[in-house]
Amino acid sequence: MIDFSDVSIHTKRCILRPWRTSDARILPSIANTKKISWNTSNKFPYPYDETSANTFLTFQTHGLGKDTWQFAITLDEALIGGCGCIRGKDVQTHTAIVGYWLGVEYWGKGLATEVVQALVEYMTHETDVKKLTATVFGWNPASRRVLEKCGFDLEGVSKDAVHKWGKTTDLWYLARSLP
Ligand SMILES: CC(C)(COP(=O)(O)OP(=O)(O)OC[C@H]1O[C@@H](n2cnc3c(N)ncnc32)[C@H](O)[C@@H]1OP(=O)(O)O)[C@@H](O)C(=O)NCCC(=O)NCCS
Repeated sequence: MIDFSDVSIHTKRCILRPWRTSDARILPSIANTKKISWNTSNKFPYPYDETSANTFLTFQTHGLGKDTWQFAITLDEALIGGCGCIRGKDVQTHTAIVGYWLGVEYWGKGLATEVVQALVEYMTHETDVKKLTATVFGWNPASRRVLEKCGFDLEGVSKDAVHKWGKTTDLWYLARSLP
């Protein structure tokens, strides 16, 4: 079996690689914005400082390559975001939930689509996961579009399921089977 620390996924423009301890110093410069946290769970906080980065880097190592697959997204060797999958529990271990984010200056260039497509390929060929799921806030049509372009279908909408920073929105559930 390949050691997860040696995995790298090449897309047309990006390389996805495992996180490094040294990324903690760089992460706040791209992650410290309300624009990202607005669309994510509170595990991706705002403000986002080096302590937040270290908390994430420590958390993501548990079960790496077995129950969680987490990647730094790099472009021309610069860290530009993160993506990954986390295996479901109990009767849902054949599923994994997908997450992804990019630094704001990299939005609108088709990069997230490229990255999620590559992640789908990796999960298909390198893991036993049979279904990928994703949840998207109602006010995040860009993320829904990324998932649609990567073959995810809408499975349901939970009304008013998200409350963040004084505002409430729906939670959209999307998913795709893996061959
Ligand atoms: C969501 C996110 C990853 C998208 O990244 P991106 O690289 O800009 O996405 P892409 O360029 O690959 O695709 C975006 C698509 O959404 C569309 N889009 C953008 N804003 C939109 C809007 N307001 N309404 C509808 N569609 C929109 C784009 O036109 C594009 O679709 P197209 O190729 O058919 O034209 C990025 O905005 C981000 O990191 N957001 C914060 C974190 C986040 O939301 N993570 C996902 C949580 S589920």
